[in-house]
Amino acid sequence: MMRMEDVFAASPVIAVLTITDVRHAAPLARALMVGGVGAMEVTMRTPCALEAVRVIADEVPDALVGCSTILSARDLYAAYKAGAVYAASPGSSVELLDVGISAPLPYLPGISTATELMAAYERGYDHIKFYPAAAAGGVPMLKAFAGPFPMVKFCATGGITRQSSPHYLAQPNVVCVGGSWLAPPDMVEAGDWDAIENIARSTIDDLSLAPRRPRTQG
Ligand code: 3PG
Repeated sequence: MMRMEDVFAASPVIAVLTITDVRHAAPLARALMVGGVGAMEVTMRTPCALEAVRVIADEVPDALVGCSTILSARDLYAAYKAGAVYAASPGSSVELLDVGISAPLPYLPGISTATELMAAYERGYDHIKFYPAAAAGGVPMLKAFAGPFPMVKFCATGGITRQSSPHYLAQPNVVCVGGSWLAPPDMVEAGDWDAIENIARSTIDDLSLAPRRPRTQG
């Protein structure tokens, strides 16, 4: 089983995908991979979400496919059975914090306050999703978390753009950013895989140009 940190090390950028037609799943995953984004998560917000995870896991085996918008333990196990390599939630419930810590796949709970962060850390999580990042304080909030919680690393999602992603990843406590900017619904609907590949490539190029901290500090 991969650990959450292995996923982030493999791909510090995760594409957040809300798939309405399962036929989009494989070509979308391939376009992201070719553009340099090797990790993606399918949100459990559409009826075909689990099928889309299955298709990506089977047909694009080099992609790291996770499942997000996990709202219950039942969702978590369904994601595992579908072939997700990790699961993530926008927030954290007592049930999910308890079940997720010993689940058969790594689980990333979400937090947006110091109190929620403490509840997750207390149960053993030190890799946590900061959601909704932009609305909940963005980079200044992550800088504020770094003081009392230097042991916690974040995956930030929610309102992040290609332009803002380098600012998040420049924070020593941020190991990953994610977002739907990598798969705009109109492009997915139109099957414009070249355009999606270009967004992925531009995102990765911007990140490699941006001033980054040495990885050893992360
Ligand atoms: C998520 O589930 O992480 C978010 O929906 C991604 O947020 P975004 O759509 O604002 O990028």
